[in-house]
Amino acid sequence: MSMSQDEMKQAVARAAIEHVPAGIIGVGTGSTANYFIDELAHIKGRIDGAVASSVATAERLKKHGIRVIDLNEAGEMEVYVDGADEITRHMAMIKGGGGALTREKIVAACAKKFVCIVDQTKLVDVLGKFPLPIEVIPMARSYVARQLVKLGGNPVLRAGFTTDNGNVILDVHGLNILDPVALETELNQIVGVVTNGLFARRGADVCLMGTPEGVQTLTR
Ligand code: A5P
Repeated sequence: MSMSQDEMKQAVARAAIEHVPAGIIGVGTGSTANYFIDELAHIKGRIDGAVASSVATAERLKKHGIRVIDLNEAGEMEVYVDGADEITRHMAMIKGGGGALTREKIVAACAKKFVCIVDQTKLVDVLGKFPLPIEVIPMARSYVARQLVKLGGNPVLRAGFTTDNGNVILDVHGLNILDPVALETELNQIVGVVTNGLFARRGADVCLMGTPEGVQTLTR
């Protein structure tokens, strides 16, 4: 059966609803997360509300009549549902293609379970073909870029883009990320880096992957 990438994204968004408990959930950002929000709208009476990982997600939730809750009021949540740009079978991810990586990492940190929803094109053996997004304080842009070159990367400023937090994004090309946990930790040490797009120290707990044969569930 032939299935478009969008159809696979919709299928995993539907499947993720089974992982939604009563209470408050965390919601990610991007096209797959958008499909998830559309599905969530059908069961909104079952949840108390959602914490949004971006302004765009908050707006979509509100448009569907889903209550948006401040993270500081939400406490610890059972589940965070979000997409990824790349994911390995060990559940390490690259995220931030949509530029929302900082709030995504914060909301994910407040959830007991990270449910990653992707189509099969996102599954990789080694992370790094997708340029690694790094959110940077604007005045530190050149300094951080020089440090990234020393690490073997080729950082490119995301032109004309400002994050929800008022910062810039450097997309780092040319990395072959063999140890995502170590690199995530190392990048966090660079002064001026707000967040890097490696989600490896806290990876996904479950990955729902859309394939033409149906939704596959990957776990650690
Ligand atoms: C947003 O900043 C990202 O982390 C997204 O989760 C990621 O880019 C996946 O987006 P799509 O679902 O649009 O592929």
